[in-house]
Amino acid sequence: MESVPYYPVNEFGPLMKGLVIGGVGIVHVFLAQFAIGGGMLLYYFERLAQRGVPNARAFVDGYFKILVLVSFVVGALTGVAMWFTTIQVGARTIGLMIDEFHWLWATEWVWFAIEITAGYAFYRFGPRLDDTTRRRLLLLYAGASWMSLFWINGILAWQLTPGAWLDGAGMWAGFFNASFWPSLLFRTAVAATLGALVACVVINTMDLDREGKAALIRRASRFAAPMAAMPLLAGWFMYVIPADSRQWLMGGSMPMTMFVAVAAGASTLIGAYVVIGLIVKKLYINGATATLLLVLAFGATAAGEFVREGARKPYTVRGVLYSTSITPAEVARLREEGAVTRDPYPLRDESRYPTPQLVRGAKVHRALCDACHTLHGANALVELTRTWTDEQLRLNVAKLQRTKAFMPPFAGNAADVEALVQFLRWEAAGAPASWPASDAPGTLAQIEDWLDQVGTSPVGGPR
Ligand code: HEC
Repeated sequence: MESVPYYPVNEFGPLMKGLVIGGVGIVHVFLAQFAIGGGMLLYYFERLAQRGVPNARAFVDGYFKILVLVSFVVGALTGVAMWFTTIQVGARTIGLMIDEFHWLWATEWVWFAIEITAGYAFYRFGPRLDDTTRRRLLLLYAGASWMSLFWINGILAWQLTPGAWLDGAGMWAGFFNASFWPSLLFRTAVAATLGALVACVVINTMDLDREGKAALIRRASRFAAPMAAMPLLAGWFMYVIPADSRQWLMGGSMPMTMFVAVAAGASTLIGAYVVIGLIVKKLYINGATATLLLVLAFGATAAGEFVREGARKPYTVRGVLYSTSITPAEVARLREEGAVTRDPYPLRDESRYPTPQLVRGAKVHRALCDACHTLHGANALVELTRTWTDEQLRLNVAKLQRTKAFMPPFAGNAADVEALVQFLRWEAAGAPASWPASDAPGTLAQIEDWLDQVGTSPVGGPR
């Protein structure tokens, strides 16, 4: 069997790796989705302008266009930042995604290049072009930006629901997986809504009388109508994801359930305002209210992305690769040979640890826990376990996948468990200058027993 690959290590201090990725990811998703919805809205308003609707042309050539430009540029930059950070944190996951979807990824990139070119061409030359060319260019921009969502969405959805691909059904089965359509349609509805909300903010800044603004707002708010389908799409998504993930989202894990509630609550408020207030009752919305709704939408996006990422735990690719960049098959092997026996990277501050056992414990933490925990910052291991007895700690670490189902099985041997336990105790004690070694044969035998009892399979199956 090939040896487990070890990639260079990155540390983010009190922030855990997931938070770093999440932070960049949320900004990226928000901007990129707005860039898509904004593009569709620009095309719609251009059609209106060409049919003689007053002020529509001024809207298309005004601030809104600049916002779309800024967001696809910043969206592109944060997109690159995303891949850059995910490669630092999960090189093996990204490697697997590129191996599996190489040409689809290239296809996504081509659409993205078209989007950028069409968008910039419209921004730069739009006012000088004839009607037909303007329409075509905007259609190309909106179509290409949606296509880049189409392609990347399949790859991201595959991470959560690889389905038949796991049985060797091939690339297309992986791409058009169970959560492909619900998440594509959901994101499309979100994109259109964001376009509509930003448009309402921008229309309020235009130099028009109230009637003129109201007329444009009525048109723009139609774009948020797909929000009405969002509960259905969200339900569809919930239905196709693995049963254990669904249970966490629906009460099994309170932090995740709360995020689901925040996302659903904020979306319902926005949806109710837009559909009942703006579309049915034809109310007027001022700039402040539109901005407030937009901030709510940002909150909903953030909560939604957190849930989507969280639902995949303990995997980065369901059934194939754990968040620790270890495959399920490799766990059994690491139980034999030790978690860090072949880890080639030294600790950055090795002289800090008074004994070899603590050095080993720190390395085990880095290899097996650091992807989702920190010691003292976010999801802090020292704090989560501070009140536990030593025995309780040993048991819970040895039976990690049963302690919480969103953790992978412990991928090391009994001496690794004990080294990690000592390391956590030493950190909790304030890192004193000396620390006794703990190698009582009885302790190790007990841990061994627990490791054997719990086995190396995860609690949730591959689906
Ligand atoms: C895939 C991500 C992931 C990995 C890897 C992971 N954990 Fe966790 N762990 C979590 C999450 C999420 C929680 C839940 C935190 C909460 O409920 O507040 C958690 C909770 C815990 C808890 C508290 C359990 C409780 O009942 O309160 C302990 C202890 C723990 N983890 C130890 C570890 C150790 C030790 C490792 C490494 C050997 C590890 N975890 C690896 C995600 C992970």
